[in-house]
Amino acid sequence: MIEVMVNGCNGKMGQIVCELVDKNENMVLKCGTDKENTGYYAFPVYTDVNEIPEKPNVIIDFSVPVATFNVLEYAKKNKVPIVIATTGFSKEEEEKIKEYAKEIPIFKSANMSFGINIFKKILKEIAPKLNGDDIEIIETHHNRKIDSPSGTALMLADTINESLGGDYKYEYNRHDKNEKRDKKEIGMTSIRGGNIVGEHTVKFFGDFETFEITHTSYSRNVFAEGAIKAASFIAKQKNGLYNMDDLVTN
Ligand SMILES: NC(=O)c1ccc[n+]([C@@H]2O[C@H](COP(=O)([O-])OP(=O)(O)OC[C@H]3O[C@@H](n4cnc5c(N)ncnc54)[C@H](O)[C@@H]3O)[C@@H](O)[C@H]2O)c1
Repeated sequence: MIEVMVNGCNGKMGQIVCELVDKNENMVLKCGTDKENTGYYAFPVYTDVNEIPEKPNVIIDFSVPVATFNVLEYAKKNKVPIVIATTGFSKEEEEKIKEYAKEIPIFKSANMSFGINIFKKILKEIAPKLNGDDIEIIETHHNRKIDSPSGTALMLADTINESLGGDYKYEYNRHDKNEKRDKKEIGMTSIRGGNIVGEHTVKFFGDFETFEITHTSYSRNVFAEGAIKAASFIAKQKNGLYNMDDLVTN
């Protein structure tokens, strides 16, 4: 039985993860952490990581960056593997996470859905073939999302950039400039509204044709299911930083 702790257990994603862990016959909910203890869970919820007496086998984190780092300290001290699904980390914070991964197994993905992983694989294959096209990414999310562009948009941009040699720069604020786009840029546009779970489109604009791919998530369950699979996987790994590529090939 894998004992799970959920960081951000009161959040939209945290609640779904708790529900699915509860139904999973190979897992048990050991405890949760969040900003407040609402008292409606059957398992203990802590607001301070220093107060956690339990030692789970794995942590699933859907919270905010500051809370991720609090729980990373706990994970490092107690040698607990962790799945980080939270997004919105700065470049410096991403580097800090790599340092933690030297001391504990960390699974991190800005998008836990299987479909987005297929999207990445397709991009790796087609981006070099469409080299020279203008590349734009458009992402749409619900009106409560804090970070922009989405972690997934950045992940897709990184995938394209890496498969084209790594010298593209990202353009988020075209309105700041009065100049035409550079050939070596990936433009990103964020749309926020309603209750959209997540939609990502990558467009390759050639001179005479446009090629585009869209992935739409209809339910948050897809991310929660992915995080639970990642938790079973990371609970058995050695120290290091893992992502969806490792999960799919295992
Ligand atoms: N990787 C993925 O596939 C994926 C999918 C969906 C969402 N996300 C990311 O997961 C994160 C959470 O998303 P959500 O929709 O559940 O958001 P949410 O706002 O509903 O939940 C965040 C939770 O974190 C808690 N929190 C905030 N500050 C805290 C602190 N200092 N200490 C402890 N807990 C704190 C909040 O109280 C809340 O319960 C976001 O970063 C989102 O972008 C990732």
